[in-house]
Amino acid sequence: MADFYVTTPIYYVNDAPHIGHSYTTVAGDVLTRWHRQRGESVWYLTGVDEHGTKVQRAAESGAVTPQAWVDRLVETAWKPVLATIDAANDDFIRTTEPRHKERVQHFWEVVRDNGYVYEADYEGPYCVGCEEFKLAGDLVEAEDGGAPLCPVHGRPVEMLKEQNWFFRLSAFTDALIEHYERDPDAVQPASAYNEVMSFLRGGLVDISMSRSSVSWGIGLPWDERQVVYVWFDALLNYITAIGYGAAPDSDEGRFFADTWPAQVQLVGKDILRFHAVYWPAMLMAAGLELPRCVFAHGWLLVGGEKMSKTRLTGIAPSQIIDVFGSDAFRYYFMRAIQFGQDGSFSWEDMSARYTSELANGLGNLASRATAMVQRYRSGVLPESGPATAAEDALHAMLSVVTAEADQAMGALDFAAGISAVRRFVDAVNLYVTEQEPWVLAKEPANAERLDTVLYTVCESLRAIAVLYNAVMPRAMSALWDQLGAAVALGPIADQRIADVSRWGQLPPGTSVSKGAILFPRIEESTE
Ligand code: ME8
Ligand code: MG
Repeated sequence: MADFYVTTPIYYVNDAPHIGHSYTTVAGDVLTRWHRQRGESVWYLTGVDEHGTKVQRAAESGAVTPQAWVDRLVETAWKPVLATIDAANDDFIRTTEPRHKERVQHFWEVVRDNGYVYEADYEGPYCVGCEEFKLAGDLVEAEDGGAPLCPVHGRPVEMLKEQNWFFRLSAFTDALIEHYERDPDAVQPASAYNEVMSFLRGGLVDISMSRSSVSWGIGLPWDERQVVYVWFDALLNYITAIGYGAAPDSDEGRFFADTWPAQVQLVGKDILRFHAVYWPAMLMAAGLELPRCVFAHGWLLVGGEKMSKTRLTGIAPSQIIDVFGSDAFRYYFMRAIQFGQDGSFSWEDMSARYTSELANGLGNLASRATAMVQRYRSGVLPESGPATAAEDALHAMLSVVTAEADQAMGALDFAAGISAVRRFVDAVNLYVTEQEPWVLAKEPANAERLDTVLYTVCESLRAIAVLYNAVMPRAMSALWDQLGAAVALGPIADQRIADVSRWGQLPPGTSVSKGAILFPRIEESTE
């Protein structure tokens, strides 16, 4: 069972992933690893959305069947990118899997039995990029006077006229308003909450839950001519993947009962309405609990517009990771963009922060520390002598920084969480500069003082490795090994945030080694 269930959107497989998708997945991963180090049992789900017009058309343009199209892209691009960014997800759902299809059909049977599905005609605009029935207020006028444009994709909408099945969304307006008034933290940040409330206060209208002119989808159990509208198939992944619809006394059924509702559902702000309005309404219609929090983050922009597969403006994660590594990639996006706001990626900014904060800041501290223990103490961590005011100040700061980071990470303020740890890194670097261990090493009479300084720096790095592990798991595990901590204290992932500021955990006598440089200097020119 899981105490803390985290999800990302499931991404459309119309094309390969770009850094926008990885952004969400990294955020979910940092949250997952942090909560695991708080001792919580976390279940982290991500996956892909394979049905609908957009994917069907992409397959047609590639002259293959939709199934062949998604199979290829999932295996060659979507699954591999998880390893590229070091995602520690527990499951990966594909909407073409039998477990998903069966449970989606079951869900809609339940909702229909509950009286929330009826047959009617739909006529109106549809954006294939969003896979969304649009309302007049959602669109912008085309300069050429043609069909209005979707503001997200900058493309003309298509006019649809279909007979299909409707979901009685309007029945949930009041219940949703009450829910969010009672629990304002259920949609974050505040800008997203306000947007959802004003949409709800405008009143909800019923919406098609099936499509008759689309063939690539999950068949409606009671009407073979129709498939489930792609969003009303995709949103259900959050429950189908954890065992919704399985027999209550089966392992899967119990897992569902113990795991749902999700604690955090991460989405980009482009799909806020689906997650904070349609999704909870669907759950209410089926008699299920609502997620504790939907968090809508901002967009990575290119030239002021949302980076997008449809607009072909995507940068592949590997373009950045091949140069800077996965840790720096994760660090950069969590650190440089306030989670919840838009941001732009630039090679210059990435490069500058990499050099100052990672290579010169943390990386240099680690290599100085391990090199000095090598040189002055033959690689054996000495026992500390008595602490002076300088050491006491670092101990005290570590407690403050840990509490601050924990509070910020829990609130999905990744930038503030990282900033807290970074302040500590800077303080330890300053401590080394001020204590001048290289000067102490010249006088045998200062041996005990040198021991204290070396111990203090290594023990500080022990804490830093634990605090940064959620953000930079690869580099921090390398640092952990260099400190000899893996042997002395066990795996880094098992170290608890609650214990991190307890001083004196690295046992004297531990062998400290100078391993590979954590953040090598980037020689290549980066455009
Ligand atoms: O909407 N900046 O899939 P999608 C930040 N299948 N995040 C971005 C981004 C950007 N420029 N571009 C994409 C779908 N994302 C549906 C979701 S869920 C039941 C179904 C991230 O491939 C962000 O999380 O269009 C966004 O919400 C998501 O990818 C949309 O991915
Ligand atoms: Mg999209």
